[in-house]
Amino acid sequence: MIKTTIAEVHKYVDQEVKLGAWVANKRSSGKIAFLQLRDGTGFIQGVIVKSDVPEELFQTAKSLTQETSLFVIGIVQKDERSPIGYELLVNGIEVIHRAVDYPITPKEHGTEFLMDHRHLWLRSRRQHAVMKIRNEIIRATYEFFNDNGFVKVDPPILTGSAPEGTTELFATKYFDEDAYLSQSGQLYMEAAAMALGRVFSFGPTFRAEKSKTRRHLIEFWMIEPEMAFVEFAENLTVQEDYVAYIVQSVLKNCPIELKTLGRDTTKLEKITAPFPRITYDDAIECLHEKGFNDIQWGDDFGAPHETAIAEDYEKPVFITHFPTSLKPFYMQPDPNRADVVLCADLIAPEGYGEIIGGSERVYDEELLKSRLQEHHLELSAYKWYLELRQYGSVPHSGFGLGLERTVAWISGVEHVRETIPFPRLLNRLYP
Ligand code: 4AD
Ligand code: MG
Repeated sequence: MIKTTIAEVHKYVDQEVKLGAWVANKRSSGKIAFLQLRDGTGFIQGVIVKSDVPEELFQTAKSLTQETSLFVIGIVQKDERSPIGYELLVNGIEVIHRAVDYPITPKEHGTEFLMDHRHLWLRSRRQHAVMKIRNEIIRATYEFFNDNGFVKVDPPILTGSAPEGTTELFATKYFDEDAYLSQSGQLYMEAAAMALGRVFSFGPTFRAEKSKTRRHLIEFWMIEPEMAFVEFAENLTVQEDYVAYIVQSVLKNCPIELKTLGRDTTKLEKITAPFPRITYDDAIECLHEKGFNDIQWGDDFGAPHETAIAEDYEKPVFITHFPTSLKPFYMQPDPNRADVVLCADLIAPEGYGEIIGGSERVYDEELLKSRLQEHHLELSAYKWYLELRQYGSVPHSGFGLGLERTVAWISGVEHVRETIPFPRLLNRLYP
């Protein structure tokens, strides 16, 4: 007997196979039963025709409840109508564990109910598709950076410093010292870039932000590349090549998942490098033209502003050269204009907002000291970071891509809570 998975059934057309699976759904009449089976690798329909099988098997199939686990034996058949192209003509069922009263039924449930049952909700077809796309983005990320000469480096999660501002920190005790959960691995990645040239990290980051929007998580995952000898313009080309690469990888490797989610793939097919660039100054002007009369030079953009700017483009758009006063201490001021920094936010199309924040970094020690002081940061806490500017300092740049916002955009799901297995939100730490 061939033991296989739903993803592999295509290798065994017209052969008998055994699968471990769960019953996602069931339909039956007096003559035929249809089982929607799932095994984690995919979904397949099992068919049991009463007249072709022993009566006992047909009765077992009819009595199966949602989420009952079983081993199923059957013949793999080609089927044009199936999303995966195959179905299973079932001739044997071995129940492993009978599920009683599974709480998530095919009917509609409210979001809070589903969030309370996230540990079970993950089994649904839609959540399965989103998790597979998330996995593909992670896989393609490693592939892209490994193929382009980057070294993966893991920055610490328990830290003593606050790269993105002191108001959004989760503090904890580190024995007798104060520590924080990492908001960004960037400062450590700068050290790593001076040792290894081109590096990238992928890990969880934490923001004690009291934001309750469809774009904000308290715990999210970030990909943070950092590159020695790379200035502002080259940093943007790496970003557009990377983002185009992950979108094209998802299109190539997740067609079933995109279809399950009803994603308009023609929009994703257009995501190729290069991406458009506009300056912050032009963005302000564009917003005035669109009727956002209140926003002034020096103000930060909110979600409605980002959406309004992005709607003019089919591709993600870089907004560059933000006011120095809006951005963190480590960003390099424009040499021609000290009131703006050499930075860019990458705004996804279709209203998904900022997916990347990046910049060239200050590499002159004296300038960095004065920038730290302007931000009222303790120089002593940044001693090691300043030392990177004392021994062969070089221009360098990097960026951070928020994984969940990127998954939301590529999958076409409205809210980031569906893009991470167990979301940590304001007021939600369960399950
Ligand atoms: O713009 P941010 O704050 O940039 C940094 O942390 C830099 N240190 C990165 C770097 O240059 N190495 O965050 C980067 C990205 C944002 O563009 C967004 O996609 C995501 O991280 N992000 C969030 N995603 C979900 N929930 C939140 N609360 C997020 N905050 C930022
Ligand atoms: Mg940002």
